[in-house]
Amino acid sequence: MDKSKLTMNTLVNLCKNRGFVFQGSDIYGGFANTWDFGPVGVELKNNIKRAWWKRFVQEDPDTYGVDAAILMNPRVWEASGHVQNFGDPKMDCKNCKTRHRADTIIENFSKGTVSAEGMTDAEMEKYIEEHDVKCPNCGKRDWTPIRKFNPMFTTSRNMVGDGDQKDIVYLRPETCQGEYVNFANVRGSARAKVPFAIAQIGKSFRNEITPGNFLFRTIEFEQMELQMFCHFNDAMKFYESYKEKALNFVVDLGLSRENLRFHDHDKLAHYAKAACDIQYKFPIGWQELNGIHNRGNWDLSRHTEYSGKNMEYMDPFTNEKFMPNVVEYSIGADRLFLAILSEAYDEEVLENGETRVVLHLKPFLAPYKVAILPLQKNLSEKAKEVYAKLSKHFMCDYDEAGSIGKRYRREDEIGTPYCVTIDFDTLEDDTVTIRDRDTMQQIRLKVDELEKYISEKINF
Ligand code: GAP
Repeated sequence: MDKSKLTMNTLVNLCKNRGFVFQGSDIYGGFANTWDFGPVGVELKNNIKRAWWKRFVQEDPDTYGVDAAILMNPRVWEASGHVQNFGDPKMDCKNCKTRHRADTIIENFSKGTVSAEGMTDAEMEKYIEEHDVKCPNCGKRDWTPIRKFNPMFTTSRNMVGDGDQKDIVYLRPETCQGEYVNFANVRGSARAKVPFAIAQIGKSFRNEITPGNFLFRTIEFEQMELQMFCHFNDAMKFYESYKEKALNFVVDLGLSRENLRFHDHDKLAHYAKAACDIQYKFPIGWQELNGIHNRGNWDLSRHTEYSGKNMEYMDPFTNEKFMPNVVEYSIGADRLFLAILSEAYDEEVLENGETRVVLHLKPFLAPYKVAILPLQKNLSEKAKEVYAKLSKHFMCDYDEAGSIGKRYRREDEIGTPYCVTIDFDTLEDDTVTIRDRDTMQQIRLKVDELEKYISEKINF
């Protein structure tokens, strides 16, 4: 298909109808910018997370996994700067009462020719006034001044039980702080020597001002983050190598190279040495997919200062004592899910003139590796036997409803790479047909050969 015609709506509808993603709290009219992953969505997302873990933790002897608590000591967020600084420049339209990000408004107004990344609030206000930038919702220019808006969600902990004294607790807006605060624990328990990395996958929460575009920007999402702790002299080397690893990873997951590009940040945080994103060409245009940052020694220095625990490292070979630098690689699991779905989605016109929707997912990512389809209902006993055998090894679907053609179409729409059809010959000679999703070719195999045949094709 002509992918430039693919819209977010098409993906949202497919996701809802086929059980990938539903609106959060759907029966209550939804809860804006939250999404629930359905039976096939949870499989795809788990497969994405498994692939990331395999590539970055399992296959790297110098990377250690953790699963830190979402609720952290509030001092963590003071040390990280989130309490004081974490905020997007927001403006309200006084006319229609909608809230907007000033930087986004400028970038959209200039059709991407102006980057607001390096602008101060005053510079953004000046640009908006001089260029007469109007509210995209109502078309009036009646803005409040820019204010910073802290997008950390808070909850509270009742410390004495009588409801009077409550301490604010934050829902983490990023997972990486759980990696910094465990630097010493991991180093000590794993006898890890710098350079080494800590990785984790987990939920983050942000009260985003401009959430939207389906899974692209939500208020609750999952991050896959990795912090490489290293000597200052090695940091740029690791930064470059993680740029390459991050790119190779998403290409190996099926994103095509022409839909990916690096974007260096124009404006760096005061402590950062280098920062870049990998952008993907989503149906909404080029947008950040993940980030790679050389953060200097800011993170461990700040946690040393705020916790009173010295995070310096003594090199056992050189006896040099230093504060490790951090190179961070961070990618959102939900955003990657959306990119993979956009890339895999296809509409093919068949010889008979019908159009089939097919997800060309890499087999290791597919929710179901194989669907078991009895040609007729009276073959279901044998088909269930085959299901029982194969489901010990892979996620399998089972479908006996409707014509075989319709069942193939349903499996194509959720990206099932193989369909096994049980027919009357199966009862005679224990063979089945196995159909390939992409080529639609069918071959005949013995039931006993299926596990090996499929296993060989679904490796990552
Ligand atoms: N620890 C660094 C950090 O959190 P970030 O650029 O704010 O950096 C990293 O987030 C990645 O997390 C992004 O590249 C994106 O993939 C994902 N992400 C961030 N905010 C998100 C949101 N509101 N919804 C979905 N994914 C998000």
